[in-house]
Amino acid sequence: MGALAIYPGSFDPVTNGHLDIIERAAGIFSKVIVAVAPNPLKRSELFSVEERISFLNEVCSKWTNVEVDSFTGLLVEYAIGKGANIIIRGLRFVSDFEFEFQMALMNRRQAPSIETVFLMTGAEHSYLSSSLVKEVAALGGNVEGLVPDIVLKSMLKKLQKKGS
Ligand code: COA
Repeated sequence: MGALAIYPGSFDPVTNGHLDIIERAAGIFSKVIVAVAPNPLKRSELFSVEERISFLNEVCSKWTNVEVDSFTGLLVEYAIGKGANIIIRGLRFVSDFEFEFQMALMNRRQAPSIETVFLMTGAEHSYLSSSLVKEVAALGGNVEGLVPDIVLKSMLKKLQKKGS
């Protein structure tokens, strides 16, 4: 499909569930921009935006049509500025649907030319969230295989520092 798509999120940190969505989106759209958006409402921030971008750059380097960026302000304004006409969102459970539906409709009201496309998250990742991974890792649980190895290493280091 000859379209430029934006995959926005806070990605604190990127998980294998996000990567599954990115990989599939890269197979559908001609170019995908993974866009990190700092969310001031989220209190459990672990990584800086620069660190999140650096992880994403490393794990997305195998896809030649995937670019990593960040933005502040309205998502639709960012998308228009980039010349993108698609917003990608991953859907995990029915519980995601209500909020996603609300956001998609609000975004369409702001920018009718931009379409939101939903990809179903792989079943093996459907229970994942960045916060859950951070919480389990902070409490000493095993999160191997849920996040890329570079994220795992940095997360454990950071949590160790926080704890000491
Ligand atoms: N696999 C694993 N986890 C996933 C996932 C997947 N496929 N998809 C989502 N998640 C997790 C994320 O890690 C995140 O976890 P966390 O809440 O523990 O950090 C959670 O699900 C929610 O993710 P997401 O829905 O992508 O929210 P977000 O906060 O990461 O991103 C924005 C929301 C950035 C898209 C939204 O706030 C936005 O558009 N901001 C810009 C301002 C704007 O335009 N606002 C008006 C919108 S109408």
